[in-house]
Amino acid sequence: MQLSMLLLVQAASTFAVSLHRGKHHSPRPSIVTYPHHPTVPNQPSPPRTRVCYVESHNDSVTDDSPYILSALHACNNGGHVIFDASTKYTIGTALDMTFLRSIDIDIQGYIQFTNDTDYWQAHSFKQIFQNATTFFELGGEDVNVYGGGTLDGNGQVWYDLYAQDIYTLRPILFGTVGLHAGTISNLNLIYSPQYYNWVANSSNVIFSDISITGFSSSNNTAKNTDGWDTYRSDGITIQNSVVNNGDDCVSFKPNSTNMLVQNMHCNGSHGISVGSLGQYAWETDYVRNIHVYNVSMSNATDGARIKVWPGAPSELSADLQGGGGKGAVTNITYDTFFVRNVDYAIEITQCYGQKNTTLCKQNPSALTISDVYFRHFQGTSSKKYLPLVGNLVCSSPDVCSDIYASDINVVSPNGTDLFTCFNIDQSTVDVNCTDLDLGYN
Ligand SMILES: *[C@@H]1O[C@H](CO)[C@@H](O)[C@H](O)[C@H]1NC(C)=O
Ligand SMILES: *[C@@H]1O[C@H](CO)[C@@H](O)[C@H](O)[C@H]1NC(C)=O
Ligand SMILES: *[C@@H]1O[C@H](CO)[C@@H](O)[C@H](O)[C@H]1NC(C)=O
Ligand SMILES: *[C@@H]1O[C@H](CO)[C@@H](O)[C@H](O)[C@H]1NC(C)=O
Ligand SMILES: *[C@@H]1O[C@H](CO)[C@@H](O)[C@H](O)[C@H]1NC(C)=O
Ligand SMILES: *[C@@H]1O[C@H](CO)[C@@H](O)[C@H](O)[C@H]1NC(C)=O
Ligand SMILES: *[C@@H]1O[C@H](CO)[C@@H](O)[C@H](O)[C@H]1NC(C)=O
Ligand SMILES: *[C@@H]1O[C@H](CO)[C@@H](O)[C@H](O)[C@H]1NC(C)=O
Ligand SMILES: *[C@@H]1O[C@H](CO)[C@@H](O)[C@H](O)[C@H]1NC(C)=O
Ligand SMILES: *[C@@H]1O[C@H](CO)[C@@H](O)[C@H](O)[C@H]1NC(C)=O
Ligand SMILES: *[C@@H]1O[C@H](CO)[C@@H](O)[C@H](O)[C@H]1NC(C)=O
Ligand SMILES: *[C@@H]1O[C@H](CO)[C@@H](O)[C@H](O)[C@H]1NC(C)=O
Repeated sequence: MQLSMLLLVQAASTFAVSLHRGKHHSPRPSIVTYPHHPTVPNQPSPPRTRVCYVESHNDSVTDDSPYILSALHACNNGGHVIFDASTKYTIGTALDMTFLRSIDIDIQGYIQFTNDTDYWQAHSFKQIFQNATTFFELGGEDVNVYGGGTLDGNGQVWYDLYAQDIYTLRPILFGTVGLHAGTISNLNLIYSPQYYNWVANSSNVIFSDISITGFSSSNNTAKNTDGWDTYRSDGITIQNSVVNNGDDCVSFKPNSTNMLVQNMHCNGSHGISVGSLGQYAWETDYVRNIHVYNVSMSNATDGARIKVWPGAPSELSADLQGGGGKGAVTNITYDTFFVRNVDYAIEITQCYGQKNTTLCKQNPSALTISDVYFRHFQGTSSKKYLPLVGNLVCSSPDVCSDIYASDINVVSPNGTDLFTCFNIDQSTVDVNCTDLDLGYN
């Protein structure tokens, strides 16, 4: 940055400070991971020494992105950026915020992304995997985001557009990409067009006290609204959060390692999922060392789930196809789940996208599953798969091993507690298995 430019930015932020006398900055929340801790302890984050306020047109229309970028640049390397409470910020430009270093972003106000679907489809950040795109990319080192404010993805236009065209590229609300060491906490995320959080190429990040919600107000449901998807990331903690959505509550995509998820309330979701994995035949996916603890799961398709594509190409829908990818899922613990109105309390499938079990078994998955522990589950399933409450389906005994289930007390509304078990060692799973194919894959 040129000196004159720098002075201008500093002058602007000094001016902003004087304008906002009386406004306060939120103390950085002290985040405690409890009762479990990430494998790598959180790095200390030094206190910030400068304050920058983000200006706003506050008119719900004009793009405030230039103000946001200038505040971030002015306060990068040791500052505290404030989005005022009672102020609305409109974002109409895809923001590359991967340059952040030692900065706190204090979002007290309301941030809304514009409804310009043409602009966003052309400019949002492409994440390659499953055609995912994000409104912004936030990354760098030692970044804390908090403040109690709201990010609003203006999802309704997207839910309606997707109903007309499944190839619509719906942006993810919160893109954490290439962030190493940081915390994201005390935020409300609402009406995301697609997933709420995408965490890629990142390490040692804690998400805590996040509230997620947003239902469609038309007859077009909000689809693929995963709470979190992690990808090519290590040491991510997600805790103490409430998720009301319509797809995975948390999902560990390819190359997610050393993940901790604890104290979650999920409603309306597809469960806490490993996968889907093995979708791309030319890729190798690893998911290892995952600990999920203390989850209440209501009105969901699944509680704890591992979904792997089979060895041959399959199709789930026109815009979701795959199979044949290699890799391994290993050392996964799902401990302490309270389920209510959940279709399957526990599900392992290596036949994702292939409803025909015969075809699935003919082409066993090239992605192995081993050392999986399900412990302490209680509650009731839904009626959807009566008399079943769970599903443990491997495509071959050779690619599935050391699956354990203990203290599983989940019954259907009819009092039954059956699991479908295919190609799995039944001596280590303390559930009532049936090997009848009820056609529910
Ligand atoms: C933004 O507008 C709201 C009302 O629409 C007002 O309460 C608030 O004070 C405004 N913020 C600023 C910084 O002017
Ligand atoms: C898009 O947002 C603009 C500005 O807030 C508003 O005037 C317009 O009605 C919105 N369009 C739709 C389709 O929601
Ligand atoms: C992550 O890093 C890899 C390797 O540098 C890069 O190819 C990729 O585009 C980055 N982003 C994502 C989302 O994987
Ligand atoms: C998304 O990816 C699939 C392959 O899985 C591809 O067939 C499709 O055309 C892609 N594009 C969109 C916009 O969905
Ligand atoms: C949703 O569909 C129902 C029945 O098809 C219809 O009666 C209702 O008006 C629709 N609601 C909206 C918001 O479009
Ligand atoms: C839970 O999700 C259901 C839809 O599955 C919804 O009707 C209900 O309002 C949600 N509960 C809360 C507290 O948001
Ligand atoms: C996952 O990691 C392995 C090795 O660590 C690498 O070979 C593979 O390409 C990665 N896969 C993805 C999808 O990034
Ligand atoms: C399994 O994962 C947990 C974290 O969930 C970790 O503490 C443990 O060391 C891992 N075990 C092995 C054998 O890697
Ligand atoms: C589950 O959904 C029902 C309505 O569909 C709702 O009354 C209930 O509150 C939901 N459970 C939770 C925990 O939100
Ligand atoms: C499943 O695939 C097998 C083998 O191709 C075929 O014989 C059978 O009819 C299929 N079953 C169904 C229900 O489509
Ligand atoms: C479940 O119980 C209800 C009421 O007792 C009964 O009508 C229904 O047939 C049962 N369903 C199954 C699949 O057992
Ligand atoms: C399985 O079924 C038997 C007999 O129906 C029952 O006694 C037992 O409690 C059930 N549950 C498990 C986990 O074995």
